[in-house]
Amino acid sequence: MVRDGERATRLRPMVYIVGVGPGSTEYLTEKAKEVISKADIVVGWELDLLPVKDLVKDKEVRLQTVDNYVEVIEEVAREAEKTGKTVAVLRIGDPCISSGLTRLLKVFEGFDVEIIPGISSVQVAAAIARVNIDESLIVSFHDGGDVNEKMGLMIEALRRGRHVIMLVGPDLSPSEAAKHLIANGISGDVPVVVCENLTLKDQRVFKGTLKEALDRQFSWLSVMVIASPKRELK
Ligand SMILES: C[S@@+](CC[C@H](N)C(=O)[O-])C[C@H]1O[C@@H](n2cnc3c(N)ncnc32)[C@H](O)[C@@H]1O
Repeated sequence: MVRDGERATRLRPMVYIVGVGPGSTEYLTEKAKEVISKADIVVGWELDLLPVKDLVKDKEVRLQTVDNYVEVIEEVAREAEKTGKTVAVLRIGDPCISSGLTRLLKVFEGFDVEIIPGISSVQVAAAIARVNIDESLIVSFHDGGDVNEKMGLMIEALRRGRHVIMLVGPDLSPSEAAKHLIANGISGDVPVVVCENLTLKDQRVFKGTLKEALDRQFSWLSVMVIASPKRELK
């Protein structure tokens, strides 16, 4: 890692890709706070900025939105290349989980890159549902991949005794997932836990079965844990 004193002589600009936890400041690590305080430019979506509002008051903050998220990050990279400014790209939860990491690494090619892990919504949901993450398949419906392929993986995992931890997204809601799974032979009695707005004031947890999830509406900010038919949620 490059220390403050070395900044003047550093040839390559520095970018931190920082996990800020699932939303509450209680889940923001000391390490994340430290690197954010070193940054000249902070960039992220509104949700990414939520846990660090007070920390970034005096920083140059660049907000990513649906309309500009590619341009904003590319502009920041170009500016940092020219000026040597240090950048912190913030990502909700952990940046190595469904946060566009591959694209970020491409945009910041040639930079000194340090990834700061964060506490993921996956970990918080697993804790609430009381499942081992290493006995689970993690799947995200947030990255525009092939929905059918992912559903196939989920069915296979459940049949083989794995739980599924699903990041809800524009590509698939919990009720749609329940519908697909039941239509493909997974029992409607399989236990599920859906965690909405984790660690935030309006956190809600639904504990029920796949068939009970069929007719419910959940926020897009949700993680759904589906128990393997071969194991039970405790
Ligand atoms: C773009 S992905 C980012 C995942 C993030 N990197 C993580 O480790 O949690 C966004 C999805 O993560 C999940 N998520 C992130 N924060 C959450 C929260 N506070 N409560 C519930 N789900 C959350 C939701 O499934 C949401 O649609």
